[in-house]
Amino acid sequence: MPIKLATTVAGLRTEGARLLGSGQGRSQGLVPTMGALHEGHAALARAAVEQNDVVVATIFVNPLQFGDAVDLDRYPRTLDADLALLEDQGVDLVFAPPVEEVYPGGEPLVRITSGRLGEKWEGASRPGHFDGALTVVAKLLHYGLPAAGLPAAGAAPGGLPAYRAYFGQKDAQQLALVRRMVADLNFPVEIVGVPTVRAVDGLALSSRNRFLSGEEREAALVLSRALRLLEERADARQPLDLDSARALVESQPLVGLDYFEVVDPETLEPLAENCRQTPFSGEALALIAAKVGPVRLIDNAPLRS
Ligand code: PAJ
Repeated sequence: MPIKLATTVAGLRTEGARLLGSGQGRSQGLVPTMGALHEGHAALARAAVEQNDVVVATIFVNPLQFGDAVDLDRYPRTLDADLALLEDQGVDLVFAPPVEEVYPGGEPLVRITSGRLGEKWEGASRPGHFDGALTVVAKLLHYGLPAAGLPAAGAAPGGLPAYRAYFGQKDAQQLALVRRMVADLNFPVEIVGVPTVRAVDGLALSSRNRFLSGEEREAALVLSRALRLLEERADARQPLDLDSARALVESQPLVGLDYFEVVDPETLEPLAENCRQTPFSGEALALIAAKVGPVRLIDNAPLRS
């Protein structure tokens, strides 16, 4: 079926309910994005299509999560290509609202507060970013709530449809925060994390990669190389020796390292004892952020042994 486009919440609800229909055991997947889609977003959409009867993707460049108006203005907008990519993955419906539809009264007075978890790492250099991101994710999760389970007149009552939302491991802190919001505030949705999609040379795909020059892109590969080093040490149950991995990144003159830490995957607190001389065991997350030319890049690797 050709993909459908809704630009209003009313349109999303009507079309979503029509697609889902009624009956037992139905499921709906939601894939929130800001557009400028690439293979990373496609992987989220494919996972959602595999696991659900109906899949809704959202495309909305959320002003609330941008600290700086220039960054917001230059965020790439590529709606036609985005719709084609989502249609290719089998997505049923796209919700791409204008700003006034999402924030009809201007900026919302009441917002989600990301708390301590939102103040560290990315939050430290982008104040308010995660409050803005969680606020829009809360709204998108509400817009995307399956409208079925309210059986059509005359139909047998069905169970409530399953509801799942898909987020990339690429933005590990965002994923951890969305999981906490949904758990702490009892949102009726299952959050599914999807592994990071990389280019063949290892660079994590990002809408911002297009702003890198050839030379900067080459330099940026040191981030994934350093993460790979930690993964290999974790797999081999060796000490992670974070200092030497950090030195590798710092040896690249075009890369300005912001942070590089090994943390607990849920609390995102540093795991000091596993970083240095003791053999690695358990589960952790290596987080890295750096400025390469004009672009701030983030990447991470789940560590397990
Ligand atoms: P955006 O940057 O468009 O990303 C949308 C989703 O795609 C996020 O869940 C992100 O983690 C995932 N993603 C991006 N690059 C990926 C990659 N290389 N591999 C796997 N997944 C990847 O994140 C946002 O938008 C916004 O903050 C949003 C959640 C939509 C709220 O505005």
